[in-house]
Amino acid sequence: MNLEERLQSIKEFIEPWLGLLEVEVLKQYPRPLPINVQEWVEELQNVSMEELLNFINHKKSSIPNKGLQEFLSKVSKLTSFESASKGRYKLPQHLNRRVDLKKKHELEQIRSLCDELNAVKTIVDIGGGAGHLSSTLVDEKARFAYCLDRNEKFQKQGEDRLSKWTPNNFEKIKFVNCDFSENTTLTCLNTYEDNLVVGLHGCGELTTNTVKFFQNSGSSWLLSVGCCYQNLNGQYNISSYAKKSGVVFSKNALHLAARCHTLYSISDLEKKFSVRRFRYALHLYLHDVLGKTEFKSIGNTSLADYEVEFSDYAIKYADLGSDLKDELNKFFMSESTQVFTQQTIVADLIRELLGRVVECYIVTDRALYLAEHGNEVEVIEVFERQLSPRNLMVMATRNGS
Ligand SMILES: C[S@@+](CC[C@H](N)C(=O)[O-])C[C@H]1O[C@@H](n2cnc3c(N)ncnc32)[C@H](O)[C@@H]1O
Repeated sequence: MNLEERLQSIKEFIEPWLGLLEVEVLKQYPRPLPINVQEWVEELQNVSMEELLNFINHKKSSIPNKGLQEFLSKVSKLTSFESASKGRYKLPQHLNRRVDLKKKHELEQIRSLCDELNAVKTIVDIGGGAGHLSSTLVDEKARFAYCLDRNEKFQKQGEDRLSKWTPNNFEKIKFVNCDFSENTTLTCLNTYEDNLVVGLHGCGELTTNTVKFFQNSGSSWLLSVGCCYQNLNGQYNISSYAKKSGVVFSKNALHLAARCHTLYSISDLEKKFSVRRFRYALHLYLHDVLGKTEFKSIGNTSLADYEVEFSDYAIKYADLGSDLKDELNKFFMSESTQVFTQQTIVADLIRELLGRVVECYIVTDRALYLAEHGNEVEVIEVFERQLSPRNLMVMATRNGS
């Protein structure tokens, strides 16, 4: 894959969408949506739940609108990367204690990739938390891992767990407490030769710093998966190409990139829609009927809040008088409110697809930075989307390793 061409194509595609990405669709009200989005929304608002599911999961639509079809095929093209095959390694029972399916799959995939790199002697696990990954990578192997994290509590939990259940692995892991940055020098490491640097779901800048650390340290291999892009305070656009003419994303766009690409089931989507119908109708009521322009977050709700009448929800979360009960229910059921909520929900789905494009931009930029420094680099979808949607991995091998 030509990373520079991919980054440039993503940039050209995404720039006209930055307005839609800037804040969530509801918060743009009453500013009208872009004309093409209005057109697509009007067509999509009447399609079945199955079709919407197909749309968000597989970027396909049976609606023959040419503009929408072009949009979807472009999104698919810009966000496709080769998928890693299912790894051979199966997590043994002794490492499988209190590990959920998502984590098990992630550990199995990364260990399988690590096993393909025969010469790995030392692992530097950055943001390694309680050491699940480090322990998986050293298990039954003559390897040693440095497991770095700034959270002492996680590390203590890891030490207690490993010393109790897998003492052999515990002897092969050193927990290093440090607030990691790109300039961190690890005096505990004598040599970076035959080192594998790994980072699994390093939040925001931690992954950028991991990539730069790999480059500066002279380590041999890198396996890096990011997350929490909203915590990137400007630490992207690191490749020379992006430094010159990179795209700058809003905090909301970065946030979207960190939570998009879920593979929904019908029931997930139905739950999501019922939450949004109430939330969006309340917003409309507060804005159009009560004339509010400032909205505070309604905070945590439970699913039960969406199984009651709209008025119960609105009275509870917007502190409205119970005398408004009938008016609120009538407002919710009115055709104009129903159309507004459905259209906003559908526009959200279009925006959600753009989240993955933003994520691909950030990941491609990191990969390009490494390629510009002479490494062999690949971006792959390392985890199954259904289990772990933050699944883009940058793999790098230092030239000559
Ligand atoms: C999302 S968790 C991932 C933990 C582990 N890699 C996993 O996948 O289970 C991110 C970890 O990075 C650590 N972390 C975040 N920023 C860090 C920094 N600047 N230096 C060291 N650790 C950091 C957090 O404490 C947390 O344990």
